[in-house]
Amino acid sequence: MAVPSTVTAALADRPVEGRRCLEAGAGVGNTTAGLLDAGAERVYAVTNDREHARTTRERVADDTRSDRLAVLDADLRTLALSDDSIDLITAHGLCNVLDPAALSAVAATFRRVAAPGCHLVIDDYAPLPETAAVRELFAVENAASELATGGPALTFYPPDALRRCFVGGGWSFDRERTLLDPVPWTGAHLSAHADVARDHAAACPGDLGDRLAARADRLATEIGSESVGRMYSLAFRLPA
Ligand SMILES: C[S@@+](CC[C@H](N)C(=O)[O-])C[C@H]1O[C@@H](n2cnc3c(N)ncnc32)[C@H](O)[C@@H]1O
Repeated sequence: MAVPSTVTAALADRPVEGRRCLEAGAGVGNTTAGLLDAGAERVYAVTNDREHARTTRERVADDTRSDRLAVLDADLRTLALSDDSIDLITAHGLCNVLDPAALSAVAATFRRVAAPGCHLVIDDYAPLPETAAVRELFAVENAASELATGGPALTFYPPDALRRCFVGGGWSFDRERTLLDPVPWTGAHLSAHADVARDHAAACPGDLGDRLAARADRLATEIGSESVGRMYSLAFRLPA
């Protein structure tokens, strides 16, 4: 599987070669592969999803890059990596799945594990315009998640909000760049979001869950795909 252009664009101006990296929220391993390809000395790829951990491991299992990879099935809020041990932290598409309390705890972990001079790259999605059809699907996903877990599934942070969050935590802002504009929300993306909504809806009481699940499925089918919104990359640095 190729490394997506959003990952290579976000890493292009960052020093990766010979660095100890934390890939926060490994997902399917896109940024993990990008960091290893760019010559990282070691990549700690962390996810709290066992299936994602397996996919990320398997992605480089057959080649020499696996010697430089440690996949950790762990919670970033309570991560057992040593203080001051990481030279580059990446969070590609992580923040939108963290509610504000989780974001704050994860930001504290980043600050703790970062060595002097550490670089931080935060790539995420800006809030969608009110006219975006996918907003309604994400709203249904969030409604089901709120009812099932007490918190949202998705939070789209404006880049300025994340910039203030990390600068407030001691990082110096370096640069912002656009990775996608518009963002192509494909049929596969929308059906994955409908799946999450359905999973949460299954835990909702009465026929409310059935109605939320049906609405998520109907929206994903009706929308099909949509190109809307912006994906951005923020880069920060700690003093050396
Ligand atoms: C959208 S994926 C990120 C994609 C990935 N960075 C890539 O480049 O392919 C979000 C990931 O964050 C993980 N995640 C969310 N909250 C987490 C937490 N508190 N601790 C660890 N992983 C978390 C999810 O399990 C998932 O693997």
